[in-house]
Amino acid sequence: MRICLTGGAGYIGSHILVGLLEDGHDVLVVDNFANSSPTCLQHIRQLTGKSFEFLEEDICNQPAISAAFSTFRPDIVIHCAGLKAVGESQKQPLRYYRTNVEGSINLLEAMDQAGCQRIIFSSSATVYGTPRYLPYDEAHPVAPANVYGRTKAMIEDIITDWVATDPGRSAALLRYFNPVGAHESGEIGEDPKGIPNNLVPYIADVATGMRAELSVFGNDYETRDGTGVRDYIHITDLADGHIAAMAYLGDHQGVEVFNLGTGEGSSVLEVVAAFRRASNQPVPYEIKPRRDGDIAEFFANPAKANDRLGWQATRTLDAMCADVWRWRSKYPRGFDV
Ligand code: NAD
Ligand code: WQD
Repeated sequence: MRICLTGGAGYIGSHILVGLLEDGHDVLVVDNFANSSPTCLQHIRQLTGKSFEFLEEDICNQPAISAAFSTFRPDIVIHCAGLKAVGESQKQPLRYYRTNVEGSINLLEAMDQAGCQRIIFSSSATVYGTPRYLPYDEAHPVAPANVYGRTKAMIEDIITDWVATDPGRSAALLRYFNPVGAHESGEIGEDPKGIPNNLVPYIADVATGMRAELSVFGNDYETRDGTGVRDYIHITDLADGHIAAMAYLGDHQGVEVFNLGTGEGSSVLEVVAAFRRASNQPVPYEIKPRRDGDIAEFFANPAKANDRLGWQATRTLDAMCADVWRWRSKYPRGFDV
């Protein structure tokens, strides 16, 4: 298949790219390196021994995207490009709406012009907002509590309306839980710029000695050890979910939403313990106040993806930590050092 992968140099997109190349697809990656590095793409070429097309471009540049699509003629678009930092989205809402929402509209317009009828979209469990019940299933109300989450909910609606205009169209809206881990080769992984916002990259910085200690944001939640609980999913399982969704869209029309999670939650302290086991390094931490906007606990009901996509997350938290440690041991400062 001919696949356009936006955000293919980023954390999630790069792991999807490896899977697509291994399966022999023709891929056009579109990325402007807003939050990634060209070195990642070099690692993927070496790792897979495969080539792919690349366009360094902002998805907000509609004429450039349309021109690329009219030449490449994708059968499907996997749309991972976007901005994803919740705190930043509250401070720069217009930048988030422009990149995420306008960028997605541009892609759909370019797809229209090139006759492309299928899209897989990187959505987020963030769209659910405060849990009314757990685990979240896809029928849980959508009520995002921050700008980032609202961009995702808006794009889901826009794609749904776009699909409704033509019976030949189809879309999979994939709501990711907390992706962590790295490719088992250690050649690609998460490489956040600056101080990591997310738990596992921060722990990895502490284990490599780059940062002194982890701040644990609250130990007075109503969870089994008082710290926040999340559904961490191995990045390779997440990437495999996209391959399964692509196959699904091959013989289904319309829009479907799928949770991509494991169905199990782990606490902050459980993740710290797993990382210590995997790395054999100390991970000192201090209990700090709760972080603004955090939810005590959430995890997925992944039954729909299990049943309809024939996909299941299989990799354990220990494997996620071992793979992050392998990546960070090989490349302590990520791609650009
Ligand atoms: P990432 O920042 O590593 O990757 C996003 C990629 O998009 C980067 O390579 C970046 O350079 C590119 N990009 C950003 N703005 C662009 C633009 N205007 N034009 C072209 N390229 C642009 O993030 P990720 O973790 O790989 O996330 C990928 C997608 O999955 C995002 O849409 C994100 O919102 C979503 N998601 C991520 C998580 C997570 O925890 N990582 C969870 C749920 C959903
Ligand atoms: C996990 C747990 C923290 C850092 C965010 C976005 C979400 C999604 C993924 C895109 C929480 C605790 C964290 C630290 C800590 N992205 N923590 N010390 O908040 O579940 O989700 O990233 O869609 O939209 O909100 O992930 O990794 O930041 O936090 O104690 O230094 O770790 O309080 O309980 P989160 P996270």
